[in-house]
Amino acid sequence: MNILITSSARRIDFVGFFKDALKSLGIEGNVITADPEYNAPSLQAGDKNYMIPHQTAPGYLDAIFNICTKEHVNCIVPLNDWEVPKLAAAKHKFVEKDIKLFVPDESVVEKVRDKGKYRELLQPFEVKAPFSYLNVTDAEKGLESGEVDYPLIIKPRNGSASMGVEFAYNVEELQHAYDCAVREIKESPLDDATSKSAEENVIIQEVIEGDKFSLDIFNDLDGNYVTSLVRRQFAMRGGDIDKCVTENSEELLEIGEKIGSNLKHAGYINTDVYYDGKNYYVIDINPRFGGGYAFSHRAGANIPAAIINITRGEKVDEDWLTQQAGLDLARHDTVVAIDKEKPTVMNR
Ligand SMILES: Nc1ncnc2c1ncn2[C@@H]1O[C@H](COP(=O)(O)OP(=O)(O)O)[C@@H](O)[C@H]1O
Ligand SMILES: [Mg+2]
Repeated sequence: MNILITSSARRIDFVGFFKDALKSLGIEGNVITADPEYNAPSLQAGDKNYMIPHQTAPGYLDAIFNICTKEHVNCIVPLNDWEVPKLAAAKHKFVEKDIKLFVPDESVVEKVRDKGKYRELLQPFEVKAPFSYLNVTDAEKGLESGEVDYPLIIKPRNGSASMGVEFAYNVEELQHAYDCAVREIKESPLDDATSKSAEENVIIQEVIEGDKFSLDIFNDLDGNYVTSLVRRQFAMRGGDIDKCVTENSEELLEIGEKIGSNLKHAGYINTDVYYDGKNYYVIDINPRFGGGYAFSHRAGANIPAAIINITRGEKVDEDWLTQQAGLDLARHDTVVAIDKEKPTVMNR
C-alpha cells in the first residue's frame, strides 16, 4: 500500500504516524511526501519524496497524477487549505484510477469554505455558529436590534492562516476595521482563490469569548460518521495548536457526530469550536487534517491506521478511534538537515 501525503511541509510527525501504522498492520508499502518547498522538513522523512509545483500553480494537479502513476499510490491525504478544492474538483479522476482520496466532495468543500454561511449550513444540524453580516450596514442593523454587540471580528469568508483578520470594539472602529480587512484581502492570495470581489469576500461576525476547542471529525469515504476527537486549546503558534489538553466532552463529541453525520463529508475535517459559557459555536471548518491531530495521536488515537484499512477495505479497529482524555500536551521543535538531493522534482 502506498500513501501520498501532499503539502507535507513540516509535518514529519504525520509521515511517522503512517509509517508506524503500515508496520503495525504488517503491510508493505511506502509513505510518499510531496511539497513545493525543497527545504520542507518532511521531504527528508518519506520513503519517497517529491518537490512539486505550488498548490496554487497550474502544474500542481498534473504533478500529483504523475506521482500516483509512478509510485502506484493507493490513497492520498492532503494537509493544506489551498489544494483541497483542486483535489475535490478532480475526485472523479482519482476514483477512475481506484485511488482513495481522503477529501470531501466539491460541494461540501465549497460549503465549508464560506464562513459567511455557517449559520445556514449548521442550523439544520442543530449546531450553532456566530451571527455574521456581509457588510457594515447589515452589521449596524444587527447591533441596533441587539442581535449582536461589540466587539466584532472582521475576516475573509474564505480565510486561511488568520489572514485579513481585524477587530472592532466600537462604532468608530467598525468602518475602519472593515476597510482594513478588505485591503488586506486584496493584497493576499485569498483574493485569487475566489471569484468574489474583496468587498464580497468579507464578513463581520460576533466575537465569541471563552474556551477554545479544536474538534476533528472523521468519516469514511462514503460519508458515514466514524469518530470525533477534541482538544482544549491553550496556545497557538504559526497557525497550529502548541499546547492543549485532550478532552472527551460529551457535548463536543455530540456536535462532532451531528456535523459528521449530516454533512456526510468524506475523510477528515478539523473545526474550531468556541464556548461562551452557555453555548458552543463553530467558527471555522477546514476540510483537511490539522496539525492538532498529532496531540490526539499521542493520546492513543490512530486515524492513519483507520485510513489504511478503509483504503484496503478492511475493518477499522474501535481502539483507533478514541483518545485518552485529560492529557496535558505541548509541542516542541526539532532541526533537520536538508539534503537537496533527497526529493525528486516532479512537474506536470
Ligand atoms: N467569531 C470569533 N470569535 C472569536 N475569535 C474569532 C472569531 N472568528 C475568528 N476568530 C479568531 O481569528 C482566528 C482566525 O479565524 P478563523 O475563522 O479560524 O480563520 P482561519 O481560517 O484563518 O483559521 C481564530 O483562530 C480566532 O483566534
Ligand atoms: Mg481557524
